[in-house]
Amino acid sequence: MKPLILFVSLIAALATTTASAQTYPSRPITMVVPFAAGGPVDVVARILAVPMGKSLGQTVVVDNTVGAGGSIGVGRVARAAPDGYTVSIGHWSTHVVNGAVYALNYDLLKDLEPVAMIGGNSMLIVSKAALPATNLGELVAWVRANQAKVNVGTAGPGSGTHVSGVYFQNAIGAKLQFIPYKGTGPAMQDLIGGQIDLIVDQMSNSLPQVRSGKIRAYAITAKTRSPAAPDIPTVDEAGLPGFHMGIWYGTWVPRGTPKEAVARLNSAIVESLADANARKRLADLGLEIVPRAQQTQEALGAHHKTEIEKWWPMIKAAGIKVD
Ligand code: MLT
Repeated sequence: MKPLILFVSLIAALATTTASAQTYPSRPITMVVPFAAGGPVDVVARILAVPMGKSLGQTVVVDNTVGAGGSIGVGRVARAAPDGYTVSIGHWSTHVVNGAVYALNYDLLKDLEPVAMIGGNSMLIVSKAALPATNLGELVAWVRANQAKVNVGTAGPGSGTHVSGVYFQNAIGAKLQFIPYKGTGPAMQDLIGGQIDLIVDQMSNSLPQVRSGKIRAYAITAKTRSPAAPDIPTVDEAGLPGFHMGIWYGTWVPRGTPKEAVARLNSAIVESLADANARKRLADLGLEIVPRAQQTQEALGAHHKTEIEKWWPMIKAAGIKVD
């Protein structure tokens, strides 16, 4: 290439980069939810999509790409164009556990760029309303006595509900049947309908149904009671001491996304987490937002790595795998 042509091409390339950084986002952004509609990730995504859209000046479209414990939806983002228009929302199981359970064709750390940590919630041990047990002690006795026919709903192998369900059966010394769904939205419908017996479910998914009396809650897997459900005892109070489980949420984009776009998305999420309506809706579901200092790319990147190092050996040791 002649020097003048090279110079002109360089100027043109620079102008395009500057223009795209300045005009981003110029079209709708897709937020990929790796589980079915109506479940906890979907609900968080839809609560945040509205204020995010306002902040970005573009619609944030929630797209449910489901299957294989959320690993298909996360893979879609890992392989998407790194242009800031495809965002992955997920949590502890989709972005940590799945790497220990599935032979993923993407790397959870190398192929994804952290955007922002959101917050998290504990699990509730819940059953269909018709189950005879009225407290956790009675539930554990009933489960042990009926274990050959106890059906526990999950969002698929490796999902938060599956890992929590396996830990629950191990904690009480029982062997249960796990029924996989494409998310805990549909699993909840079957719990309400009585087709399955139990879910060790994210609080945000179960709480509305507990409040309306359609299902029964026995305990929260936290050290303290939740302000959103002060009547539900902790596992320590209810007779399963130390059975503490929680799910934290974050957002990622494909590795290589321009840093201006990542920063823009981060500030949109930070603004959304400060939005009074979003905060109220999340708090009402028992979801706790992380403090502002942790809503950064760096905090999510560091936490993600630490969690992988901590959990992969534990998940493998617990024998949690795709059957
Ligand atoms: C969902 O959105 O369905 C859940 O987050 C699934 C899970 O239990 O991990």
